[in-house]
Amino acid sequence: MSTRNDPAPAPLAQGRAARCIWFTGLSGSGKSTIAQLLEQQLRARGLHICLLDGDQLRQGLCRDLGFTHTDRVENIRRAAEVAKLMRDAGLIVLVALISPFRMDRQLARELFPDGEFLEVFVDTPLAECERRDPKGLYAKARRGELKNFTGITSSYEPPLAPDVHLKTCEADATALADQIAALMQF
Ligand code: ADX
Repeated sequence: MSTRNDPAPAPLAQGRAARCIWFTGLSGSGKSTIAQLLEQQLRARGLHICLLDGDQLRQGLCRDLGFTHTDRVENIRRAAEVAKLMRDAGLIVLVALISPFRMDRQLARELFPDGEFLEVFVDTPLAECERRDPKGLYAKARRGELKNFTGITSSYEPPLAPDVHLKTCEADATALADQIAALMQF
């Protein structure tokens, strides 16, 4: 089990062992887009990949869950457990969830052997996510039509020491996906 106090291994070593690539960031930060591009790249290398995306999980496995603190904890727990099962079956798993709380991301990490879990912080400032607002959800949240909206009425705890820190205002999604793929030279 890794703990937060473990010294960080060299990035290349981390990438080599990576089996679960966990994307965290605000809604509209670009998690799904970057994860999809990475999925395509890794698949083209002949690797067996599965992408678990928050919006998709919430249509099926997690459709009974909302956005209260308790429901998010359960949403993240289920995704992490499924990711672990997939990893045990030999897949590389990409997970794209807001996963706003540090504790839940840490619990997900602890399901995996040391070095296999890569936390990727998709760092897009709230103002930029709100400007993009691809689903119109920030506008709804500002109007008070959506409760517990991350960044507006529900908190987001950014990773303190992510394995990979992607600043989406400084590079496009393809370049950022390339950055992770480069760490994963098996
Ligand atoms: S998480 O917090 O439990 O990890 P998850 O990634 O599954 O969230 O789902 C986030 C997606 O649900 C957002 O991208 C957005 O499309 C939608 N959504 C609907 N209501 C909310 C809300 N209150 N807060 C955040 N996202 C919401």
